[in-house]
Amino acid sequence: MACLKEYDRPVIAPTEDEQYLLIQPQPSPSPSFTPMLLSACPPAIKALLAQLCGWGVVWLLGQLGLLPGGVWILAFSQGVAAIVVAAMLRCTRWWLPIHLVFTPLAFAALTFKIPSGVWLAAFAVFALIYWSSYRTQVPLFLTNRETARAVAELLPPGSIEVLDIGCGIGSFLTAFAQQRGDARLTGIESAPIPFILARLRTRKHPATTVIRGDFFACSWAGYDLVYAFLSPVPMLEVWEKARREMKPGSLLVSNSFGIPGIEPDRVIEVEDRRRTRLLVFSISEKN
Ligand SMILES: C[S@@+](CC[C@H](N)C(=O)[O-])C[C@H]1O[C@@H](n2cnc3c(N)ncnc32)[C@H](O)[C@@H]1O
Repeated sequence: MACLKEYDRPVIAPTEDEQYLLIQPQPSPSPSFTPMLLSACPPAIKALLAQLCGWGVVWLLGQLGLLPGGVWILAFSQGVAAIVVAAMLRCTRWWLPIHLVFTPLAFAALTFKIPSGVWLAAFAVFALIYWSSYRTQVPLFLTNRETARAVAELLPPGSIEVLDIGCGIGSFLTAFAQQRGDARLTGIESAPIPFILARLRTRKHPATTVIRGDFFACSWAGYDLVYAFLSPVPMLEVWEKARREMKPGSLLVSNSFGIPGIEPDRVIEVEDRRRTRLLVFSISEKN
């Protein structure tokens, strides 16, 4: 299967505290208030811009003699300036406290005299885990056993084909395989470390295949159920692909995140600690 192509599309940020809102269709902001360039700009680039502008403002204030001395005043002034710029760039709210404490924490970290190689190693590990999350806005979080069991109960006994798009470290695949020995499972994951972990965790399940690549670049035809635990950002595109490629009678199951403007055929409230909601979309001829 040719799945190795990374995809490239602009994205928007999800927030955990907006979990409730995320499963509701969201009105898009008026284009007149959101310049095209801003809405197409990835959040990571906006964050970088805010930080750089914060430093620019602090430098300017220093040149004008308006900044009292002291490294902490300098650090927090940069943070406040970065917050203002981030708000102007319409960064999502949860970025703002990060902007405030980023430079002070960097200064604090410098006082520990930790060798620079440690920071580089930490960056490399995080990059290999989160990979393209800065662009896709799909972070790594894991499906629990109760949720996998609820998904397993959606299909009648018999041989079934199930696809986990963005399989992370294989939590859904391993839990589902324990519930349904009759299922053939496929997981697709783009991030290197989660992919390796998913491969290792599923090595004892011969009916489970884990592929490294972009799930948008693989065919979803032939699967009885496609499971998605992603973020609000790709859901419309996921739906478009599902209705184009999935066979009538198959199911698209989204953990927590709705599809703007599309009502699920069924909502399952899982009795787990995080009160997971599974949104079930049936694919029919008319989709
Ligand atoms: C929230 S995790 C879900 C993990 C797993 N499905 C589970 O339920 O435990 C989402 C995963 O999707 C991966 N991902 C996001 N976009 C992807 C893409 N286009 N192709 C492949 N993997 C992707 C991310 O790297 C992340 O590991």
